Amino acid sequence: MRTWAIGLLALAACDSGGESAAAADARATVDAGAVDGGRGADARVGDGAVSPDAAASPVVVPAAVTLAERTATTWALTDTPVGVAMTPVGTVVGTAGGLFRLAEDAELVDGTAVVAVAAAADGALVARADGLFYWDGLTLVPSALADALDGHPVRALAAAGEVLWIGTDGPLYRLTPAALEVYGDLAGVQAVAASAEAAVLTQATEQVAVRAGASGLEVHGLGSEPVNAAAPGAGDVVLVGLEQGAARARVAVAGGATWRPLALGQTPVGGQGEALAADPSGGSWVLTTDLLVHIGAAGQTLVPRPETPETIDYFSADARGGLWLGGEGVLVHLPGDGPVRPVTWADDIAPFRDARCAICHDGQGVGPALQSQAEWARDVDEILRRVLAGQMPPGGGVGQADIARLQAWKDGGMP
Ligand code: HEC
Repeated sequence: MRTWAIGLLALAACDSGGESAAAADARATVDAGAVDGGRGADARVGDGAVSPDAAASPVVVPAAVTLAERTATTWALTDTPVGVAMTPVGTVVGTAGGLFRLAEDAELVDGTAVVAVAAAADGALVARADGLFYWDGLTLVPSALADALDGHPVRALAAAGEVLWIGTDGPLYRLTPAALEVYGDLAGVQAVAASAEAAVLTQATEQVAVRAGASGLEVHGLGSEPVNAAAPGAGDVVLVGLEQGAARARVAVAGGATWRPLALGQTPVGGQGEALAADPSGGSWVLTTDLLVHIGAAGQTLVPRPETPETIDYFSADARGGLWLGGEGVLVHLPGDGPVRPVTWADDIAPFRDARCAICHDGQGVGPALQSQAEWARDVDEILRRVLAGQMPPGGGVGQADIARLQAWKDGGMP
């Protein structure tokens, strides 16, 4: 059994500015002298202090929770995306039906099926069955990087800051501004979820977590871990995982690491997660039934989940803190730098009261009067307590997004 190496090193949030998003100049010829022999993949250390008994561990509660409203932009797409690259010369999305440029509509650039896409230099790298190409905003040209990969077909790409992770049917490559690192032991990588320093790689039969260190990549197989999906985490949280929907955090604690239930927003115990994404600038995103939760070193940001698509097949973060969601023939982008709208009585809380509470609490119903803004402000803690406990409305059923909105209203001074 492989032991855990990553857990000994807390993953600091990567500070390489996501704004440039230039992974590396894919057109440049790679200096063969800069190629690392790929040692390190066998340098497996660690004490293996894994506690699969997460139920016995304390819940990881966020330091701070903020709610952010985002305005979604939607495009119609016939196929599920395999990747989206935001570049200074435009945004492209790869699908089985070809490469599309996202303008007002999704415009076809080229109809050949795309295997993977990532931002690189001032354009995008596009992997297809017939080779590796570079899109410069206008045309697709063969990429010189293909030569450095010894002709191995590219299966997965992930850009994070100035780093590009490249999974092939041969070795794993990690391209930094300084070198092209080659990891022969990590063959056949089909998917990469990555920040600049850490990644979760999907191989044919298992997932492995890796972290770039001074002596190469530290590697840890996730086969014996109590999660079935994982992405790099931030701060003391080394990995975020999901097991049957329960969100877990693999936390570095003195001398080892342990899995703990992860509170998502104000939900006290292990919020239900559907999907995970690595945030390329550090941290991770969890998709829940009605929220998108960003888990960063400083706390969590909750974004209400858009109404469409209901079923999400593609879930990916961009370097600017935004999110891409694909499914049911649409691709949705939620920008990362949108203004945070304050939660107000008139826009948020009064409509929620009318929909869920007023029938009993309007002064004529069976419950005590709880109708005016002043009454809600006075009783806000009791309201939150009852709603969180599933006691109000009788039978429960208030979603996380509404609970987050209530909490944000209280935190914002109840305007
Ligand atoms: C089907 C009727 C019904 C609905 C709907 C309902 N409540 Fe109630 N609620 C009651 C009744 C009856 C009581 C009094 C009995 C009790 O305290 O449990 C009550 C009590 C409360 C109390 C305690 C008030 C106090 O002064 O002790 C709070 C707070 C509360 N409800 C909040 C809510 C909120 C918030 C909603 C909407 C999300 C809601 N309720 C929806 C019936 C309802």
